Amino acid sequence: MADETQRPWWHDALIYQVYVRSFADANGDGIGDLDGIRSRLDHIASLGADAIWLNPCYPSPQRDHGYDVSNYFDIHDEYGTLDDFDALVSAADARGIKILMDLVPSHCSDEHRWFVAALAAAPGSPERARFYFRDGKGEHGEEPPNNWQAAFGGSAWTRINDDPNDGQWYLATFTPYQPDLDHTNPEVGQLFTEIFEFWFDRGVEGFRVDAVAGTGKHPDLPDQPPVGPDTGVLDITWQNPYSVFREEGHEAWRHFRASLDDYGQRHPDRELMMVAEAYAVRRPELIKKFTEPDQFDQMFSFDLMLTPWHKESIERAMQDPLEILESTGTPPAWTLNNHDIQRIVTRLGRSDADQPESWTNNNLALSGADADLALGERRSRAMAALIFALPGNLFLYQGEEFGLPEVLDIPADRREDPVFHRTDGAEIGRDGCRIPMPWTTDAATSYGFSTGRADGSVGEPWLPQPDGWGDRSLAALDDEAAPTLSLYRRLGDTRAKFAASQPMHATVFDGGPGVVAVRRGSLVVVVNPSAEAVELDLGRLGVSMDQVVLASEPLDAGSSTIPSDTTIWFVSSD
Ligand code: NOJ
Ligand code: CA
Repeated sequence: MADETQRPWWHDALIYQVYVRSFADANGDGIGDLDGIRSRLDHIASLGADAIWLNPCYPSPQRDHGYDVSNYFDIHDEYGTLDDFDALVSAADARGIKILMDLVPSHCSDEHRWFVAALAAAPGSPERARFYFRDGKGEHGEEPPNNWQAAFGGSAWTRINDDPNDGQWYLATFTPYQPDLDHTNPEVGQLFTEIFEFWFDRGVEGFRVDAVAGTGKHPDLPDQPPVGPDTGVLDITWQNPYSVFREEGHEAWRHFRASLDDYGQRHPDRELMMVAEAYAVRRPELIKKFTEPDQFDQMFSFDLMLTPWHKESIERAMQDPLEILESTGTPPAWTLNNHDIQRIVTRLGRSDADQPESWTNNNLALSGADADLALGERRSRAMAALIFALPGNLFLYQGEEFGLPEVLDIPADRREDPVFHRTDGAEIGRDGCRIPMPWTTDAATSYGFSTGRADGSVGEPWLPQPDGWGDRSLAALDDEAAPTLSLYRRLGDTRAKFAASQPMHATVFDGGPGVVAVRRGSLVVVVNPSAEAVELDLGRLGVSMDQVVLASEPLDAGSSTIPSDTTIWFVSSD
């Protein structure tokens, strides 16, 4: 058998997601920046991170916080400069940490020079052919070309003006500020080849590729068939068979693969990767399709992130990714949080979180049930202890190691997310998981988020931090040896010591009533998602209590029970 430790770094890496705007602000203007990240690298390293994924930090009007790119070859001025970026790459490299960027190929900003040129050019021009410009319906073209809805509310079409000679419409899957690029146009593919080249030359080791579900459309752009009566307003887009998970998209990814491989062949010392982002929950056939050898290296497994706290649901959420690993060798990309989803402490603390039907297939769907944050945090620890044992990549989102909850009570006039504004507040959106990070207990510096001004003053943080945020800061948690932060650090160490040398293979098995059990080589992990302590069936699990190497909660000495909402790791010596 091949040496298990000789696999590419991205088969079983710990990747820490940094939401640049909210991580750390080194010039005191209330907005996170690249120098701020550099100043906090020791914290990221302390978790055992192999790589950092940076949310988009390219120039952007920030209508969707960087997912509206106006120039793919530079750094957004609020975040710093290319020199600052280079300094971050080398400081990270000095700690053995690689940098992944976020690539946004499905759409650009309406301020991108291509789109500005398209508006200035005539219908049918090469400038418009990089996007989806179409004539409207109706006598004067006053109706949109079809009935497609935007993912963040409203029509997916925007008319550029009322001119009867050129009142064309353009397609934008998310917001009108994010016009969709037409990847059947070779110029578009060529742009992304150049983007790869530019950032790989600067030392970037790979990309998280945004919104791959919606790239590529049916060439005729037919009307979307009617959706079911219970379909949420933000779900309509994702049920459109003519604009979602299209073969035309896969053609684009084959081009991306070829570009990446071409660079890799010229730089054999590099191990480059790209991971696809799409919500393919409980649709393993899609993950298989996107990770065919001529496409992505891996695709996020969001099943565990969206699963209720319920035995069979958790088992099921692991089974598909593990089966794909088994059959195709594609490593799973596990994740419990990201910048689009309510934080796990709030999600799993909700009074309905243990109901199997609370499983959601919608990345924005929110349960309004009350949340017990202490319970949610305890469950989040158990979940973290589970994913750290699994084969594959772990994507951690900044602040989950602090046990941060979702901030739900942001005043409407401080909300920034276009999801909130484009649904007239019907959906609260994603600001609550993007609150600037608390590093210290000092309220005068926005809890250590903002530093750097000579006079010690700081600008207002771009999103308000709630009262008591400093109690959840790194400094406060370190002082009191807080259970979540200390568990994350122990998990990093224990993973490096025991899990990393285990095979890229794991099975979910029947470990007895009430518990979830997974075996990976000589590691056995047991989760008790129920509300009661459970007497472990050690025989069936094939373990003994003296093999315990880690538990997400304190265990009673001499007992063989697993407390409620707890995970235990056992390692046998053979
Ligand atoms: C997915 C990103 O994660 C999200 O933040 C963004 O709004 C959409 N794609 C559109 O780019
Ligand atoms: Ca700043």
